[in-house]
Amino acid sequence: MARRWDSYENPANFYSLQAPRINGVTSWRKRAGLFWIDAESPMAHRKAIERYAYYFKREMAFSGVQYEPSEHTDKTCKAFGIVKDDWSGKCRLIGAGCFRFRQYTNHPSEWVLQWIYFHPCARRRGHLSEVFPVFETDVGKFSIERPLSLGMSAFLEKYATKFDVV
Ligand SMILES: CC(C)(COP(=O)(O)OP(=O)(O)OC[C@H]1O[C@@H](n2cnc3c(N)ncnc32)[C@H](O)[C@@H]1OP(=O)(O)O)[C@@H](O)C(=O)NCCC(=O)NCCS
Repeated sequence: MARRWDSYENPANFYSLQAPRINGVTSWRKRAGLFWIDAESPMAHRKAIERYAYYFKREMAFSGVQYEPSEHTDKTCKAFGIVKDDWSGKCRLIGAGCFRFRQYTNHPSEWVLQWIYFHPCARRRGHLSEVFPVFETDVGKFSIERPLSLGMSAFLEKYATKFDVV
């Protein structure tokens, strides 16, 4: 039997972007709305992150999706979501992304921010600015992985010149 597509994978929904409801986040960094995903996280949370990975791929016209719900088998992937209450008091996923632990031959191993994506209606409202210091607290020192979007380049230029781009 053919695999059933999740709605966000379906090319018929290419122009649709939804901010899924998130229930049952038990531990999160309240101020920035940040919560981390690991092997114990509910599948619904991991699928919500995957949805944003699809949106990111689409918008950037990349060829591959950079996150899979099943990949938390080692400690080199730190995926995250960012939530905000909507008008009805329900929690919605407004952003998501992933850090990776990269090992290089010509450079010390390090954590990199591989991708981050905010729903278009949540952009230029200070969410990235708010979450960056929390990333530093939770992840430690990290670099930003290329390619950079225009938005990320502008952000780094203004606020975060101390971060390396690799
Ligand atoms: C890039 C992105 C992560 C920025 O997140 P954000 O929450 O919108 O950023 P902030 O609101 O904290 O922006 C802070 C400052 O960064 C700069 N900035 C952010 N996005 C910008 C953009 N698209 N164009 C120009 N400047 C931008 C501005 O100086 C902004 O301050 P201002 O709004 O007061 O002028 C977000 O726009 C996004 O998800 N874009 C699509 C995916 C993407 O590009 N991901 C990064 C891949 S490397």
